[in-house]
Amino acid sequence: MRKIAVSCGCLEYPVLIGAGLLGTVGGAAKGLAGDGKVVIITVPPVRELYLESVASSMDIEGIEPVVITVPDGEEAKTPETYLYVVGRMLDAGAGRDSLVLSLGGGCAGDLAGFVASTYMRGVSLAHIPTTLLAQVDSSIGGKSALNHPRAKNLIGSFHQPKLVISDTRVLATLPTKELRCGLAEVLKYGAILDGGLFRIIEQRAGDMLALEEGVLEDVICRSAEIKARVVSLDEKDRGERMLLNFGHTVGHAIEAATCYRNYSHGEAVAIGMLAEARIAAQLGMISDGTVDRIEALASRLGLPTRVKGVTAEGLIGIMKGDKKAERGEIRFALPDAIGSGAVVEVKDRALIEEAIKGVLGD
Ligand SMILES: NC(=O)c1ccc[n+]([C@@H]2O[C@H](COP(=O)([O-])OP(=O)(O)OC[C@H]3O[C@@H](n4cnc5c(N)ncnc54)[C@H](O)[C@@H]3O)[C@@H](O)[C@H]2O)c1
Ligand SMILES: [Zn+2]
Repeated sequence: MRKIAVSCGCLEYPVLIGAGLLGTVGGAAKGLAGDGKVVIITVPPVRELYLESVASSMDIEGIEPVVITVPDGEEAKTPETYLYVVGRMLDAGAGRDSLVLSLGGGCAGDLAGFVASTYMRGVSLAHIPTTLLAQVDSSIGGKSALNHPRAKNLIGSFHQPKLVISDTRVLATLPTKELRCGLAEVLKYGAILDGGLFRIIEQRAGDMLALEEGVLEDVICRSAEIKARVVSLDEKDRGERMLLNFGHTVGHAIEAATCYRNYSHGEAVAIGMLAEARIAAQLGMISDGTVDRIEALASRLGLPTRVKGVTAEGLIGIMKGDKKAERGEIRFALPDAIGSGAVVEVKDRALIEEAIKGVLGD
């Protein structure tokens, strides 16, 4: 087991990463909740696979958790689901000393975070992330979110968990498409913040896809360390945390332009990274060879490298309205080498258009 410390302001919490950690959740929950209620928020597929292990570890500690199952995927993040969870917690008599625990991917985690940050003005939170994306990204940093019918992640808060427990063994049941989503974020960390990680992925892509335990744990730890470091420096999402947006400016526009149907977040981000790497190349920040290197690796990880059903003008229109744009100017987190980057405001629309055209498929 490895332990990474995340410090945000005066708070510090551990992220524990290792194979077989689900069995330790009960002991950890006992330490955090004391005599308060333990509320597990989960989704049906994860409940089916992993609730029993978690619940039996709680049984040993004499904890009888309140288990609240919510709809899977983005449906977990609706205001209706939020109100349902709050109602169930009230019914169960959960007080201000409760511990809310997410058991699932980023959707369960975002909902649980928002519940914990608002229920009786805030109760304790812990995450047990079960997707690669949640283990390397969403469980660390304290962002929570609900979707509004008019915009994804519009309603949210910052509420740090007290603990994150990532059991790498649960990734064995993750659908390949979901695994790739996490790999896109891992690739992002390597490309813009950690050249060593990028080289490990280049050398071990096959082993990662085969879920080889050693390399998986290494890569998850290294990614979680980067996320922890960046959020520790910059809790409220400015400055260096902006570098984590590599691939996301174009990626979010692709998701929105295709109504969140054709491309998963990771797939859209992968294509977004390739478009944005082309912008960096046109600005002279990296060579064409570096763009090719990122593209080759995305392709080996099974990520798409071209997007269909969108136009460059359409994507630019969406990006101008994005919350990352200021006064209509589009800002990108761009690599200036493998493993480092900068946030750049790009005013030249023709240049952006040209770069996006490079990733349009037929
Ligand atoms: N808070 C943040 O900082 C942050 C960062 C990135 C993304 N997010 C949010 O995270 C969400 C996406 O998270 P996600 O990609 O984890 O998706 P998800 O939570 O929808 O999980 C993906 C699918 O995998 C299933 N699943 C989860 N674990 C499994 C396992 N071990 N075995 C089998 N199936 C399993 C889920 O039931 C679901 O069907 C988005 O809503 C995004 O906005 C938040
Ligand atoms: Zn992302």
